[in-house]
Amino acid sequence: MNHRLALFLVVGWLSFCCHVRAETGAEAWLRYSSVKPPASSLPGLVAAVGNGEMVRTAGRELVRALAGKPANQGPVGALPNANAFVLGQWKDIHPLFPELNRSRAPAGNGFWLKTVRHGRAKYWLIIGGSDRGVLYGTFSLLARIAEQKEVATLNDRQTPSAPIRWVSEWDNLDGSIERGYAGRSIFFDNGAVRSDLTRAGEYARMLASIGINGCAINNVNASPRILGAEFLPQLARIADVFRPWGVKLAVSVDMSSPVAVGGLKTFDPLDAQVAEWWRKTVDAIYQKIPDFGGFVVKADSEGRSGPSQYGRNAADAANVIALALHRHGGLLMYRAFVYNHHLDWTDPKADRARAAYDYFQPLDGKLENNVVIQIKYGPIDFQVREPASPLFGAMPNTNQSIELQVTQEYTGQQRHLCFLVPMWKEILDFDMHVNGETPVKKIVSGKTWHHRIGGYNAVVNVGLDENWLGHPLAMANLYGYGRLAWNPDLSSETIADEWTRLTFGNNPQVVSTISKMLLSSWHIYEGYTGPLGIGTLTDILGPHYGPGIESSERNGWGQWHRSDEHGTGMDRTIASGTGYIGQYSPAVQKLYEPLANCPDELLLFMHHVPYPHILHSGKTVIQHIYDSHYDGAAQAENLVTQWESLHGQIDEERYSEVLKRQEYQAGHAIVWRDAVVNWFHRTSGVDDAQGRVGHNPDRVEAEDMQLSGYVPVDVTPWETASGGKAVVCKEGSCSASVRFDRKPGIYDLATQYFDQNNGISHYELFVNDHLVDSWTADDRLPSDKMNGHTSSRHTSSKNLRREDVVKIVGRSEGGEQAPLDYIEFYLSGY
Ligand code: GCU
Repeated sequence: MNHRLALFLVVGWLSFCCHVRAETGAEAWLRYSSVKPPASSLPGLVAAVGNGEMVRTAGRELVRALAGKPANQGPVGALPNANAFVLGQWKDIHPLFPELNRSRAPAGNGFWLKTVRHGRAKYWLIIGGSDRGVLYGTFSLLARIAEQKEVATLNDRQTPSAPIRWVSEWDNLDGSIERGYAGRSIFFDNGAVRSDLTRAGEYARMLASIGINGCAINNVNASPRILGAEFLPQLARIADVFRPWGVKLAVSVDMSSPVAVGGLKTFDPLDAQVAEWWRKTVDAIYQKIPDFGGFVVKADSEGRSGPSQYGRNAADAANVIALALHRHGGLLMYRAFVYNHHLDWTDPKADRARAAYDYFQPLDGKLENNVVIQIKYGPIDFQVREPASPLFGAMPNTNQSIELQVTQEYTGQQRHLCFLVPMWKEILDFDMHVNGETPVKKIVSGKTWHHRIGGYNAVVNVGLDENWLGHPLAMANLYGYGRLAWNPDLSSETIADEWTRLTFGNNPQVVSTISKMLLSSWHIYEGYTGPLGIGTLTDILGPHYGPGIESSERNGWGQWHRSDEHGTGMDRTIASGTGYIGQYSPAVQKLYEPLANCPDELLLFMHHVPYPHILHSGKTVIQHIYDSHYDGAAQAENLVTQWESLHGQIDEERYSEVLKRQEYQAGHAIVWRDAVVNWFHRTSGVDDAQGRVGHNPDRVEAEDMQLSGYVPVDVTPWETASGGKAVVCKEGSCSASVRFDRKPGIYDLATQYFDQNNGISHYELFVNDHLVDSWTADDRLPSDKMNGHTSSRHTSSKNLRREDVVKIVGRSEGGEQAPLDYIEFYLSGY
C-alpha cells in the first residue's frame, strides 16, 4: 500500500481524564469536558492517512480531545483491524474504502463524516476535500460529541458557504489594539512581533475550529512598517504558527507604502515604478510565506492616504496591488468604507450613508478578479441597527465580502452583553431583490453572480486577556461569526445552543438560560441605546461607548440623526431627502420610501418624522423612545436575575466574572436610559405618558444632600448626569449625607458615581456613622471625565429606619475627585 498511515494509538484515557482545572475561559468552546471520558461506543484509535500537516493537526486534536495525550503513536502500514477514527483527504481515503460513493466526495474545504464497517471493525471516517476539510470535519465531529449528539452512525456532508472566511485584528505594532477591549495584542509588542507566539497559535486553533481560514493581523489604519524588509521574517513567524491550523496570514497595508518604506517619490498607482515596487514586495513575501493570504486596504478614508491624492480611483489602486498578488494566488480585500468625514451638516442632501455606493458602484466590472470589495454590513459604521448596505446589490461584476464586527465597538465594548448573531442574520437574509431572490448571504458567497470568490471578514480584536474578549459571553459572537460564515442558514437559536453546550456543558437549565440571555440581548441593548434605527446615540467623537446624544450632530462625520424640537430622523427618501433609498432596487425602495411601509425598526434611519408620528405598533415615536429605554433597562436588570439562577450550576470562576459584568451592565443601562429620555424630553417638550421621565421619586441628588467638602459642578454633556450636575471632592475626604425619611425596611441603596481612568476614588457608606459598605472606583472605563462613559453604580443592601442618617464619604487619589451623582433607595423587603 502506498498510502502512509500515521496511527495514533489512544489508550488509557481514563487515567488522563477529568483533572479539575480553573475555568479561565482560555479554552473557549474547546473545553471538551463532556468528551472525556469518551462514550464507550467510541473507538480508542486514531488513524491519520496522508502526510499533510493539517491532517496531522487534526489527528492530534482528536487525541487531545479524547484522551489528553496518546499512549503510543507512529507510522503503520495498514488500517487497524479494530474500531478507529480514520481521517484524511478523499483522494487518500477512497482507495481504502472503495465502497464510498464518488458522487458524495467532499470538495475544497468541505468534509464528509461517515461511519462504515469492515468485518468486525467499525470506522468513523473524517474525509476532507482538502487537508483543511479534514481539520474542519474533525472539529465538527468533536463538537457533536461534546454536545452529546448522536455519533454512533454518521453520514454528514458539509461544504462551507463561501471561500473567504477571514477575521481581522486591528492590532498596532506597539501592542495596542484599535477598538480592542480585552488587553494588548497577541501578535505585537513594542514595535515588533512578540517573541512568544503561543497565544497566536492557540488563536489559530480556535479559528480553525469554526472554519476560519484567514487572519489579517494588523490595524486597517496600517503602519507602513508592516511591509518593511526587517518585518518580513517576523511575519513569517506568525504564519508558521497559523499554518498547522490552515489559517492564512494576511496584513493590512497603507497605500503610501511605496514612499514610506520603499523610498520612492510617489505612490501613484499608475506609476510604473510603484507597480514594480508592489510586485517585488509581494514576491519577497511569498518567498518567505508561500501560503500568504493577501492584503486588506483602507484608503482615502478617515484621513488615510489613497489614490485620490493622484487623481486616481480605487480600481487603479486595487488593481496594481492585485496584479502583484495574483501571480501567487493572493487576494486583495479593498474596503468600501470610504467617505468624506468633512460633510456639510447644513446641506440637507449630504449623506454619509450614500458614500460607499456612490464611490464604488461606478467601478463595477473594472476590478481584477482577485480583488474583493469588502463592504461593512450597513452603510454607516457598525451601528446597533442599520439596513443592509445597498452596495451589496449594485456590483454584479465584482467579488464582494461582508465586513462584520465581533469586537463590540458600538455595542457595549464587551461590558454589555450583546449577542450579534441575530443582527447579522437579519442582514444576511435581507433580500436585495436584484436578480430574483438575492439575499445578502447569496451575493457575498459569490453564488448570485457566479463568482469564484467572495465571503466574510470580521473584526475580532482578541487580546491577551485570558478569556480572549473580556466578557466570557462575548465569545458567542466569535463562535457565531465562524458558524455563519460556514453556513449562514443556521438559526441564531442553533448557534446559541451549540456555543452554550460547548462552553458551559449540557445541563438543560444552563443551556436554556444562557441561550435565552444571548438571544434577547441585542434587542435589549438596542432598546436602551438607539431604537428605531436612529443610530447608536453614543458619543461618536469619543470612545463610542456611553451616551452622547448630540455628539453626532453639527459636525462633518455624518452620523446625524437630526433631532430638534419638532422631530427626529434622517430623511433619506428619494422624494424629499438625500436620495439614499434610490440606491436600492425598486422592490426595496417600495419597502423604505413610503412612510407607511417603512418598518419601525428602521424608521428614523430612512425618514424624518414629527414626535407624535404613529408607528405601526400604534405608539407615537416619542413614547416609543421613552418606553424602549425603560423596558431595555428593566430587561438588563433581569439579565442579572437570570444569570443568578445559574449559581452553583456552573463553575464559580466564570459565574462571578459574568455576574460582575451583568451587574455593571444593568447600572450602565440606567445611565443610557436616563441620558436618552431626558435629552428627548427636553428637546421635544413632550411628556412621557407614563410619567416616568423627569420623575425619580427614589432618587436623592448628590447636590441636594448635606455636603461637607464636596462641591457641585456641571457635567458635560448634561444628559449624562442626573440634573446635569454632580459633586466632587477637591481635596482630602468629603461627605454627602441625607436623613432617611421613607417607610422603614430593607433597602437596596444605589450610589451613582463616576469612575474615571485618571485616578482612583474610595467610597464608604455609613448609616448613623456605622460603616455599612465600601468600594473603590478603579475600573478602566474609557474616559478621564465625568460623563456617560464613566457613570457607574454600586448597590448596597441595608435595613433602614426613619431618621437614619445615610452618609457617603469619598476620598480621591489622582485626578479623579470621588465624584457622586445621586443615591437611590429601593425597598426590597421588610
Ligand atoms: C470605525 C472605527 C475606527 C476604524 C474605522 C474603520 O470608524 O471607529 O476605529 O478605523 O471604523 O473601519 O476603518
